[in-house]
Amino acid sequence: MWPLAAWVLLSAVGAGSAQLIFSVTDVVEKTDCNKTVVLPCYVTNLKENNANVMFVTWKKQGKVIFSFDGARQEFFRDPAVPSANLVSRADLPKGIASLMLNSAEADVGNYSCEVTESNREGETRVELRKHSGSWFLLVERAIIIALLFLVIILCSAQLSVIALKYEIVPKKKTGILVASFIFTVAAVVGTVLFVQGGYTAQNQAGLGLIVVPAVILVPLQYLMFGIVFESLQQATFALIGLQILGYVIAVVGFALCVSACPPLHGSVVIAGLAIMAIANLLSLAYVFIMGSRMKDHPRPGKAVEEPLNGLQSYVMCEKYTVVDTPWP
Ligand SMILES: *[C@@H]1O[C@H](CO)[C@@H](O)[C@H](O)[C@H]1NC(C)=O
Ligand SMILES: *[C@@H]1O[C@H](CO)[C@@H](O)[C@H](O)[C@H]1NC(C)=O
Repeated sequence: MWPLAAWVLLSAVGAGSAQLIFSVTDVVEKTDCNKTVVLPCYVTNLKENNANVMFVTWKKQGKVIFSFDGARQEFFRDPAVPSANLVSRADLPKGIASLMLNSAEADVGNYSCEVTESNREGETRVELRKHSGSWFLLVERAIIIALLFLVIILCSAQLSVIALKYEIVPKKKTGILVASFIFTVAAVVGTVLFVQGGYTAQNQAGLGLIVVPAVILVPLQYLMFGIVFESLQQATFALIGLQILGYVIAVVGFALCVSACPPLHGSVVIAGLAIMAIANLLSLAYVFIMGSRMKDHPRPGKAVEEPLNGLQSYVMCEKYTVVDTPWP
C-alpha cells in the first residue's frame, strides 16, 4: 500500500511535467498474410481513464498520419491512410491507443504514438518491418520443388529406358516430346515464381504451374506403357490410377492453399506430389522388370518382321515346360 501512496504523491507533485509511460514494443512485423496491421500503443499509467481528456497522434517517419481528439470526438486521417483507425475507441480510456490500418497503406518505417491525458503526455515509437516468406515455409517449398524434380527425373529415366529398348513410332515420339517439353517448361517457370517467399499472384501462379500441368503425366504414362506392352495389363492401369490419385490430391491441395495464408493444407499438396513420385517410381520399376521379360516374347508386330524370334520363344517355352514337369 505504501509504495502506491508514495507513487500517487509523487505523481501529484510532479503533475506539470508528468510523463505517460508506455508498454514498449520496438518492432512489429507484417507478413504478406496480414490484410490489416496493428501498430501497438499501450499507456500504462493513465489516471483519469476518460477519453474526453485524451488526444492521440500517430506519425509516420515524423509526419502526422492520424489523430483523435477526445474532447471533440474528431478524427484526422492523412489521405494516404484512409483506413487508419483506433483499434478500439472503447478501450482508449484503458490506455489502448493502438492504430489499425490496411496492410497496403502501412509502409514499413518508424511510427510514433503520442498520447496526451489532460496535461500529461508521452510518446512511444514502433518500427514496422516487412517479413517475407509467409505463405509456404521454406522447407515446404523445398519439398514441393524437390518432389516435382524427382517426378521429372523418374519420368525421364523411364523414357530413356524405353527409348533404348524399343522402337518408338515418329507419331508417338512427337507426342512424348511435346508433352515432356510443356511439362518441363511449366515446372521450371513455376519453380522460379514459387521459390521466393511471399503471397503474391506470382507465388500463387507458380504453385499452379507446378501442380496443374502435371496432368500431362497421365497420358504420357499411358503412351509409354503402350510402347512397352502390347496390351495394357491390370498393373499398368493400377499405376496410372495411382498417378491420377496423386494428381487429384495435389490439385485439391493447391485449391485449398491458393486462397489461404498461411496455407493450412500445404501437406495435401506435398502428399499428392509424393504419390505421383511413387507412381512414377513404380512405373519405372515395372517397365524395367516386365519390359525386359517381354524381350523374350516379342510383340506380334515384330514377330512378322523377324519370324525366327517367334520360333525361339516357342522353343524357350518348351524348355520351361520340360524343366517344370518333374516337380509335382
Ligand atoms: C500480422 O499477422 C500476424 C498473424 O495474424 C499477427 O500476429 C501480427 O501481429 C500481424 N502484424 C501486424 C503488424 O499487425
Ligand atoms: C527506424 O529507427 C531505427 C532506430 O532509430 C533505425 O535503425 C531504422 O533505420 C529506422 N527505420 C527507418 C525505415 O527509417
